[in-house]
Amino acid sequence: MRVLEERIREEGLILSETVLKVDSFLNHQVDTELALQIGQEFKTVFGHLPITKILTVEASGIQFAMAAGIALGVPFIYAKKKKAVTLSEGVYSAPVHSFTRQEDYLISISQKYLGPEDKVLIVDDFLATGAALVGLADIVKESGAQLLGVGCVIEKSFQEGRSLLEKRGIPVHALARISSMAPGEIHFIANEEQ
Ligand code: G4P
Ligand code: NA
Ligand code: NA
Repeated sequence: MRVLEERIREEGLILSETVLKVDSFLNHQVDTELALQIGQEFKTVFGHLPITKILTVEASGIQFAMAAGIALGVPFIYAKKKKAVTLSEGVYSAPVHSFTRQEDYLISISQKYLGPEDKVLIVDDFLATGAALVGLADIVKESGAQLLGVGCVIEKSFQEGRSLLEKRGIPVHALARISSMAPGEIHFIANEEQ
């Protein structure tokens, strides 16, 4: 997605070879117009599929799940995060290991909102280690719903997230795919539709 790559080049802060800050327009302050365009782009990619629900995890996946939900005309659900202590009743839960925080947490959603009749698109801001996305995929499996794909705004292709998901047979699409970066330098992989 060209407009997204341009914004990343203009405003992204490359803190190291692995960490990109996009706080000015994606995940702290949010450019609402761009977020809606991102939703439309997810519709272009996944709109031919019979999706009934979008699933994401709090916090910074929410604005893109909402935008995709608006574009596709379906609701979105965001999994809630809590400390990994007890499993509550009436929820689907999956453990997630955060590599950046070096801790485990649970993500959960109410069983009321996802079931075998659903066809799910998972949406998130970053595809990095894939830990949270694999947790979401586990929740979809537990619910009996069908997972039709994963859409991410930014993929760091040099991390293992994509291969973890593809190993499970999940179709993955990212709107901006970074092959490598270093302070002052960033390289993207071209997507076919550009
Ligand atoms: P993950 O694969 O489950 O995302 O775990 P990881 O430990 O790799 O990443 C931890 C958090 O950092 C995730 O947000 C992830 O989206 C975010 N993240 C990963 N790489 C980058 C990056 O280069 N830049 C930025 N800005 N964020 C990155 P989260 O735990 O889901 O928290 P939230 O921010 O959505 O609340
Ligand atoms: Na996230
Ligand atoms: Na994040």
